[in-house]
Amino acid sequence: MKVFVTGAEGMLGKDAVSTLRSEGHEVFPSDLRMEGPGKLDLTDEKAVQTAINRAQPEIVFHLGAFTDVDKSESRPLDAFRVNALGTQNLALACLELGIPLLYVSTDYVFDGKKDCPYLEYDQTAPLGVYGQSKRAGELHIQQLLSRFFIVRTSWLYGSQGKNFVDTIAKAARERKELTVVNDQFGSPTYTIDLAKALLDIAQSGRYGIYHATGGGETTWFHFAAKILELANIPTPVLPISTEELNRPAPRPRYSVMRNLALELAGLPPLPAWEDALSRYLGIRQP
Ligand SMILES: NC(=O)c1ccc[n+]([C@@H]2O[C@H](COP(=O)([O-])OP(=O)(O)OC[C@H]3O[C@@H](n4cnc5c(N)ncnc54)[C@H](OP(=O)(O)O)[C@@H]3O)[C@@H](O)[C@H]2O)c1
Repeated sequence: MKVFVTGAEGMLGKDAVSTLRSEGHEVFPSDLRMEGPGKLDLTDEKAVQTAINRAQPEIVFHLGAFTDVDKSESRPLDAFRVNALGTQNLALACLELGIPLLYVSTDYVFDGKKDCPYLEYDQTAPLGVYGQSKRAGELHIQQLLSRFFIVRTSWLYGSQGKNFVDTIAKAARERKELTVVNDQFGSPTYTIDLAKALLDIAQSGRYGIYHATGGGETTWFHFAAKILELANIPTPVLPISTEELNRPAPRPRYSVMRNLALELAGLPPLPAWEDALSRYLGIRQP
């Protein structure tokens, strides 16, 4: 496939580009951060159209986003400009060229009030600006295109970006004790596993909404404890509440998503989160 990738310099983007290339696909990477011909600002409609028309891809993998959940609260216009308008620009360019769009979205489109895993068909009700702006991107795609994949994922980490696993390991080596939130439930997802799933989904030709997350569920506290156990770091970690942490953006209490569409389509599930974490820490050992 000829694949145009946005957000190619991001944590997921870098792994997606290398996964696509290693599987023999032709990739056109783009990002706001890139220098040269790949540089692309998603909020610039003309630039988006020109870039897509020049590359003549068979599909666009849209991974670029304004991803800072807390900053989205104080900079809502920036979040909506990139995540809603930028996604609309891409959807329009895909419409003009007659190609499908694969968009990576988030568990934060849900309010977290359920007590069992969210299905692809459940009502969305984002709590904060980031989730609202990503949901706005989903809506633009659903309104403009008939051939799209919306792939919601959660709690991403990978070797190409700043992430929870490295942050916890580093903090534990520097401090006597850590405190981590124990009342938010979700599914950690390794970018390498997600990149493979994105490719499977795109190649299935079965358009629609997907949830794609690491298998199983945990809390940030138990995730942190597992990181320290596997990395052999003895620093104690103590559970705290979301209220105690007092972050600017509200977050869903329970955002575990069942990967039902993957199951129904007979596509391989992502590995269990503990298995993925062991593999990740394996490649991170000095
Ligand atoms: N990280 C998670 O836990 C998580 C969870 C669920 C869903 N997701 C979704 O997964 C996707 C990838 O996330 P990630 O963690 O890999 O994000 P990331 O590392 O922040 O990468 C996003 C990339 O998009 C770029 N970008 C921002 N504004 C842009 C613009 N106007 N034009 C072009 N590029 C722009 C960013 O550049 P700058 O860094 O210079 O802004 C960055 O290189 C995103 O769609 C995100 O919403 C992430």
